[in-house]
Amino acid sequence: MKVTALCGSLRDGSFNMLALQAAQKLAPEGMEISIESIADIPLYNDDVRKRGLPAAVAQLRQKIAEADAILISSPEYNYSVSGVLKNTLDWVSRAPEPPMEDKPVAIIGASIGMLGTARAQYHLRQILVYMNCFAVNKPEVFIGMADKKFDENGELTDPVAIKLIGDQLIALQKLTIRLAAK
Ligand SMILES: Cc1cc2nc3c(=O)[nH]c(=O)nc-3n(C[C@H](O)[C@H](O)[C@H](O)COP(=O)(O)O)c2cc1C
Repeated sequence: MKVTALCGSLRDGSFNMLALQAAQKLAPEGMEISIESIADIPLYNDDVRKRGLPAAVAQLRQKIAEADAILISSPEYNYSVSGVLKNTLDWVSRAPEPPMEDKPVAIIGASIGMLGTARAQYHLRQILVYMNCFAVNKPEVFIGMADKKFDENGELTDPVAIKLIGDQLIALQKLTIRLAAK
């Protein structure tokens, strides 16, 4: 089972990127998670889309199309998803053949605030409804106070977060199998 992962933060040392790297190690047997960069995705412009997809967009759409499932980790910016993630999803959501349509999606998130991106994750779920994706409902993974949850090597150390990510990936695996059987 191939999972394409997207990180909503571009910064070096991003806690969300570290969370995705932790997920790679926690993936259940048979699941492979590859993290695709969104750093080169340009700002969405429908005129540009009509002229032809920019190379970075076309490449990312291809990776998503080839994946069985998607994993997203985003910071919360002003109570929502980051602009770079929303911009990427806008590119991915448009014709021709939006590659995330019908795909299962798991959501995690890390923030230095108490709520661990809860508010952003509910915005993301709403976006995914319009994109006709199927989000894993439970367990939810909110990594609050992220600055205290990773060690100096960037390893996730919080046992609760480790358990939740592992359980969520199992839920993603089950949902992917169920959707494929339809
Ligand atoms: C523009 C901006 C807005 C932010 N808004 C929120 C917020 O609404 N809630 C929150 O918990 N943290 C907020 N933060 C703090 C982020 O949680 C923190 O910067 C986090 O480390 C970002 O994720 P990253 O480590 O993956 O880059 C905000 C940070 C920035 C730069």
